[in-house]
Amino acid sequence: TQNPHEVARVKNLNTIQIGKHEVETWYFSPYPVEYAHIPLLYICEFCLSYFGSQKQLGRHRHKCSLQHPPGNEIYRKDDISFFEIDGRKQKVYCRNLCLLSKLFLDHKTLYYDVDPFLFYCMTVRDDDGAHLIGYFSKEKESSEQYNVACILTMPQYQRMGYGRLLIQFSYELSKIEKRLGSPEKPLSDLGLLSYRAFWSETIVQLLIETQKTGNELTIDDIAAKTAFQPQDVLHTLQNLNALKYYRGQYVIVLSEQVIKNAERQMQKKRREIDPTALSWKPHN
Ligand code: ACO
Ligand code: ZN
Repeated sequence: TQNPHEVARVKNLNTIQIGKHEVETWYFSPYPVEYAHIPLLYICEFCLSYFGSQKQLGRHRHKCSLQHPPGNEIYRKDDISFFEIDGRKQKVYCRNLCLLSKLFLDHKTLYYDVDPFLFYCMTVRDDDGAHLIGYFSKEKESSEQYNVACILTMPQYQRMGYGRLLIQFSYELSKIEKRLGSPEKPLSDLGLLSYRAFWSETIVQLLIETQKTGNELTIDDIAAKTAFQPQDVLHTLQNLNALKYYRGQYVIVLSEQVIKNAERQMQKKRREIDPTALSWKPHN
């Protein structure tokens, strides 16, 4: 199937094989030239090394003993885990991850200088190991208060609610850090859609719950409870058309329609991050 996000730009690789999946690529990624024109690139799903043939990958798999990403498992709930990987300590893995993710990201440029970043890889576990679903990277020190640099759900796992889990996880880390966070700009179209959906759902749920207790929240209250930056809260409320000017000040009012939509969303059985399954401390 043709990918709608493909732009008129020279792609080098067309297809990769990773684990049980064959995945069509979306964008250019600077794999070494000797791999640039082969029809199918074979990637070890655990260490993310790449090979020109099935045979080479097979030989590698005899030697490669990894069955999960090479870092600390900081979260486990049911079959979902998160591994934290330090770009300075696992340079090769993190570069390979950046090369892989660039195949699905148009505008990001990070490949070689992985030292300043931490990588949070989300996996799903079965008898063969912990398979990479997606990840986000995060600067160790962000002057802009970004809590996510790049975020990706592998295409074979997209539209199943995993992106939402990654985003949720990034804000759980910010809550532990006692900081407000936001993703690095610019966002891709898909990134914007996913963040908007997450911000709206989270804020509307919080407002509905608070209303039940007879209390009111300001934008700063919402930011403090969610670890969203006030800007993102404000924009979300504007998108929901929930800011009304009343007796000389702005008040937050949810329309019937917004509340109905939210209740429908809440009835969907979805995976959520369980903060009690997260064992993590900030690095500084
Ligand atoms: N069309 C319409 N809405 C979408 C789409 C889409 N293709 N994808 C996500 N959404 C919205 C929907 O509201 C969706 O909820 P729903 O499925 O209940 O309707 C919501 O976002 C969450 O979707 P998830 O299934 O949780 O998200 P997914 O696992 O597909 O991951 C992600 C989203 C990470 C953005 C993925 O599309 C991706 O990896 N894209 C390629 C890389 C990319 O663009 N990353 C973001 C770059 S910006 C940055 O890195 C800071
Ligand atoms: Zn390997």
